[in-house]
Amino acid sequence: MDYERPLRILILAAEIVPFAKVGGLADVVGALPKALQALGHDVRLAMPRYRQVDPQRFGLTTVINALPVDMGSFRVQVSVRQGEIGEDIPVYMIDAPRFFDRENIYGYTDDGDRFILFCRAVLEAMRVLKWSPDIVHCHDWHTGIVPNWLHTIYRNDPFLTSTASVYTIHNLAYQGIFGYRILEVAGVAANGFLYPQITELANVVDIMGRGILFADAVTTVSERYAQEILTPTFGEKLDHMLRSRQERLFGILNGIDYEEMNPLTDRYIHTHFDASSLDKRVENKTALQEQIHLPVNVDIPLLAMISRLADQKGFDLLSQIIQPLLAQGIQFIVLGIGDQHYHEIFQNLAARYPDQLAIFLTFNTELAQRIYAGSDIFLMPSRFEPCGLSQLIAMRYGCVPIVHSVGGLADTVQEYDPRTGKGNGFAFTNYDPWEFFAAVVRALELLRFKDIWRTLQQRGMAADHSWQASAVRYVEVYRNALAFHKSGK
Ligand code: GLC
Repeated sequence: MDYERPLRILILAAEIVPFAKVGGLADVVGALPKALQALGHDVRLAMPRYRQVDPQRFGLTTVINALPVDMGSFRVQVSVRQGEIGEDIPVYMIDAPRFFDRENIYGYTDDGDRFILFCRAVLEAMRVLKWSPDIVHCHDWHTGIVPNWLHTIYRNDPFLTSTASVYTIHNLAYQGIFGYRILEVAGVAANGFLYPQITELANVVDIMGRGILFADAVTTVSERYAQEILTPTFGEKLDHMLRSRQERLFGILNGIDYEEMNPLTDRYIHTHFDASSLDKRVENKTALQEQIHLPVNVDIPLLAMISRLADQKGFDLLSQIIQPLLAQGIQFIVLGIGDQHYHEIFQNLAARYPDQLAIFLTFNTELAQRIYAGSDIFLMPSRFEPCGLSQLIAMRYGCVPIVHSVGGLADTVQEYDPRTGKGNGFAFTNYDPWEFFAAVVRALELLRFKDIWRTLQQRGMAADHSWQASAVRYVEVYRNALAFHKSGK
């Protein structure tokens, strides 16, 4: 039966765990393929080979030596290496030193060229490898040109005519906006490939916009965010276009890697525990207090934030209420890198409140896991949040979240209601520092009622945020995309 046929799925992304990670995108693309494979599909991945991806450490092999890639007025020779994740899932890496052998993953004036090159090289490499995908699944702006290509320069290419595209938005705030030259580089500068009738594309080159407009199906990483981006408040000027594609826009919540994220086996934490042995969890709290040089005392509420230090993540709200928060006698730990401005604010505060505030301006997996396992309350006051992974990890480790009710945060955290006894955390609706503050106060109040608190912890730990269910939904979307593609719509 055609419907049950396993699919050949090619996933393109700019970052993939364990090779390169800047944000949650890398976690998602590093985990979803394993769940798709478990459902019986042939999944392959592609990313650039950055400087930090050491060929030896990751055992990369070379699968294509010299592949010419057309970049408009010039050609680039790339080679293709292969690594793997999970059980033999191939990860093709486009090796083009001039473009990717650099200090960082993003942030260069030629980022447009870099990711156009990456995408074009991947499609051409598949031709050489004679592996024609049923689905190309593209993520974020870096790969948005691919759905556009399948409708333009590759439209009549027999190798790709039956390939459908799925485009996933992880963050609409980064759209890949460039000058017209990038269209020449991408080979889509011809008249028929400009879209003067489409307002969002008439005056700018918006690569994400092209992805949204041409993909057979578009997804984003929670149902709530899929609704939010249809509105001007969250739509980042693409809400109108998204509304026009509404019948093929799907929200699918991210999962987390349940094998990696498990308080019963986590190799970094002091004492293992699960929902039935929560008494032992406190040993992680004292071990953490000791490690970060805060007074060791189980009765002092320990609050935590692990995040990019940026406005999007609510640091503007936090910096307005941090002093009254500390006046509640709490301890607070912050881990993450971000805007210089926030680095300074928090470093100064930590110097003033050494017994209450511990700041680590770095990225450190080991410490992160200990924070999830040892702190009482996890703060996530993001202004907007397509999905959010940290609140899911926090809940899995019995750390109770306080969130701004938006996007994936709204879909996964419900305010505890003392009347009905329902809920698994705390939430505030308006993006306002004092609403945030009030939510923290409610949490601190409830923390004194150990039995109720434990129920909240257990609810968070019982929730299923593994990838299985979400992978099944992606496969449904892939089948939808194929149907859309076939119907020629
Ligand atoms: C982006 C979003 C975040 C989401 C992640 C993975 O980083 O900001 O909310 O969890 O992508 O989809």
